[in-house]
Amino acid sequence: MQLRNVSPDDVDAYVRMRCDPVMMADLGGPLPLEGMADKVRWDAQEAAADLAWLKMIVPDLARPDVVAGTVTIWSHDTDDGPVSEIGWMVLPEFQGQGLGRRAVRVLLEQARHQERWGLLHAFPSTSNAASNGICRSVGFRFLSEVAVTFAGRVLKTNHWVIDPGRDLT
Ligand SMILES: CC(C)(COP(=O)(O)OP(=O)(O)OC[C@H]1O[C@@H](n2cnc3c(N)ncnc32)[C@H](O)[C@@H]1OP(=O)(O)O)[C@@H](O)C(=O)NCCC(=O)NCCS
Repeated sequence: MQLRNVSPDDVDAYVRMRCDPVMMADLGGPLPLEGMADKVRWDAQEAAADLAWLKMIVPDLARPDVVAGTVTIWSHDTDDGPVSEIGWMVLPEFQGQGLGRRAVRVLLEQARHQERWGLLHAFPSTSNAASNGICRSVGFRFLSEVAVTFAGRVLKTNHWVIDPGRDLT
């Protein structure tokens, strides 16, 4: 398994992840198809400029064109100052094989060697057993349940946090 930056050619994978009702069930439902190509182009620029870590999961190095999902770290401003967040998605045909957990661990390994991100926060939906399982198994600490707005929708989430330099298991 390998992680690489998102590229403008990843539109199909983005559409399969973000515009699909099953994939987006815990994230408030599918996003509209319109604007997805622009979103991928924007993300590819952000990744190339190293403004965020927007990674595609490549499960088999012998087939670099096949992607299994994404894992991303980005920083955003809140009323309490900047916060670093990590998120992930794995396409249905690759789920349940430990790929999500491994991809998250690989990116956290990279983060632990840099001062840049500090504490990393994750906000999986309270009903997303696999995502909460990933948090638990790589060493996140559970803080509380919290309502989070994602793409204009309010989600009931679990707030997890990890210091990748100290907590990664
Ligand atoms: C959530 C998601 C990323 C999990 O990826 P995955 O590669 O299937 O997960 P893994 O196989 O690495 O499993 C992760 C952990 O969850 C557990 N798990 C997996 N599927 C599960 C399920 N359906 N119910 C309960 N636990 C589950 C695994 O046993 C593992 O725990 P362990 O490390 O203690 O063994 C993937 O299912 C997905 O993208 N779903 C749709 C989109 C989404 O929900 N994104 C996340 C938003 S926060």
